[in-house]
Amino acid sequence: MKIAVVIGSLRKESVNRAVFEQYAEFNKDVFQFEEFAIGDMPLYNQDIQAPDFIQQRAQAIADCDGVLIFSPEYNYSVPGVLKNALDWWSRAEPQPFAGKPTAIIGASPGAIGTARMQYHLRQVGVFLNMRLLNKPEVMIGGAYDKVIEGKIVDDGTVEFLQTHAESFKQFIES
Ligand SMILES: Cc1cc2nc3c(=O)[nH]c(=O)nc-3n(C[C@H](O)[C@H](O)[C@H](O)COP(=O)(O)O)c2cc1C
Repeated sequence: MKIAVVIGSLRKESVNRAVFEQYAEFNKDVFQFEEFAIGDMPLYNQDIQAPDFIQQRAQAIADCDGVLIFSPEYNYSVPGVLKNALDWWSRAEPQPFAGKPTAIIGASPGAIGTARMQYHLRQVGVFLNMRLLNKPEVMIGGAYDKVIEGKIVDDGTVEFLQTHAESFKQFIES
């Protein structure tokens, strides 16, 4: 299964990127992951046409079997860079998220592990007609104690991510 990955953090030491890398490593026999960069996109402006590379990425996402979004929570919501990318892709033809099996995973040092971001992102997903996996919800709180030097050191988190991967696979197949 080909999975498009979007990461809502641009920083090198991102715990969300680390969670993605571990998830990809654990599930490399099941999923083939392709990350779609968002940091090089201009700010959305309805007056300008999408640059070709944005349209090409939209087409490549549309060709995948599913989408996985790994993202932090910024100021109780979706990071601007991620929302900017979704705004660009939402106007692409084909709109790559329409009907696409999509799952959200988030990690934060706080107690509720990106819950507020995830529910805002789900609201955006309604307009984009994403087919969102409801459960399990993966909200990794206390992430600075669970992800150290790019590795998940908490067994419960690893197990939960594997439960998620199995559910996501079944969701795509259903
Ligand atoms: C602008 C900004 C806003 C933030 N707002 C929140 C927030 O609302 N909730 C939260 O749990 N953490 C918040 N944080 C802390 C992030 O969760 C933390 O920096 C996290 O490591 C970011 O994810 P990353 O490591 O994948 O880049 C914020 C950080 C920044 C820079």
